[in-house]
Amino acid sequence: MSLNDIKKEFPIFDEKIQNNDLVYLDSANSSQKPKIVVDRINEFYTKQFSNVGRSVHYLAVAATNLYENTRSSVQKYINAKDKNEIVFTKGATEALNLVANTLGQNYLQEGDEILITELEHHSNYVPWHFLRKSKNIKINFAEINELGEVTLDEIEKKITPKTKIISITHLSNVTGAILPVKEITKLAHSKGIIVVVDGCQGAPHLKLDIQDLDCDFYAISCHKMYGPTGLGVLYGKKKWLEELPPYQGGGGMINEVKKDRISYGDLPNKYEAGTMATAQVIAFDQSIKFLESIGIENIMKHEAELIDYGQELLQKNNSVKLIGNPKNKGGILSFTLEGIHPHDIATILDEDGIAIRAGHHCCQILHDKLNITASARASVGIYNTREDLDKLNDSINNCKKMFNLK
Ligand code: ALA
Repeated sequence: MSLNDIKKEFPIFDEKIQNNDLVYLDSANSSQKPKIVVDRINEFYTKQFSNVGRSVHYLAVAATNLYENTRSSVQKYINAKDKNEIVFTKGATEALNLVANTLGQNYLQEGDEILITELEHHSNYVPWHFLRKSKNIKINFAEINELGEVTLDEIEKKITPKTKIISITHLSNVTGAILPVKEITKLAHSKGIIVVVDGCQGAPHLKLDIQDLDCDFYAISCHKMYGPTGLGVLYGKKKWLEELPPYQGGGGMINEVKKDRISYGDLPNKYEAGTMATAQVIAFDQSIKFLESIGIENIMKHEAELIDYGQELLQKNNSVKLIGNPKNKGGILSFTLEGIHPHDIATILDEDGIAIRAGHHCCQILHDKLNITASARASVGIYNTREDLDKLNDSINNCKKMFNLK
């Protein structure tokens, strides 16, 4: 599939939003959905619906097979060694909570340290924060440099003999910095440290070879990958998933339940308690097929060109202050406009049909570091074009005019 006319695969772009053609620049928050994903959800509920992994009737067996097909597709897409290393969760947030909670129970001791970075969004900080109280562990922060990156050197500097886990974003949702995950993992493993990666922004935009990265856990948000909401994926190395305790109890995750004892199911069922997001999982297979049909290399090239173009436009625009200028950057343009609150910027842009995000983007630590409370953020996806970024720039100019900025 070609990227030239990809917008037509997304029904939302046929809509007029407040009488405007939609310029959607909020994909880091959540991506729009291609028709094949929307249709697949409809088709499943209309013609094929059943719960999975329980009943033996025709519909249940067929739905279970479809559900498991998605697991195989994800395994292939990220090049995991084993299908059972793929666990479905209700989101990347749940995936990260699962990892923090189970490592907290079985692995961490009082006084241990966890190293995260100032770039982390709240889903990769708050779950670790819970362990501060319950396990009396310490959280250290690798700091950003003036480009808005976290370097391998900085990570190395912040490792102490007590560091047990490093948990880092693959791609910052504010500065766009892409972290050297492979190198960080190599360093961490040489010191016996576990590596957890928040792949919320990485998975939709970067080529993923999980065996090559060699991290221990990787969390994926499916709704940012042109897939349904309410669904995430946790990749975990088999040895960890086997060793760690279950996260939630309920149907589907057990083997044998007696009054005096309970044994748990094998992987991945052990971590998939209760009725799962069946329709979402089945439809997510279409998201992966969609991404594969375009090719991740083409997506990366397209988004890199766009972001270079957008960055150049905004750099030339007086009064726009871009946040971060990392050498290795994903499709994010965060900025402030002198004297104009980011919520006002977003509201004014919205009147021109341009959807961006404003606020702290779930990254209060980073905004504190930057001495600002909020920023405006344009983020790109496969459907964006240079014209979208021209419109963004024009609309920023309208905004400046309203506030008498040069
Ligand atoms: N969904 C959040 C974002 O917009 C984290 O980046």
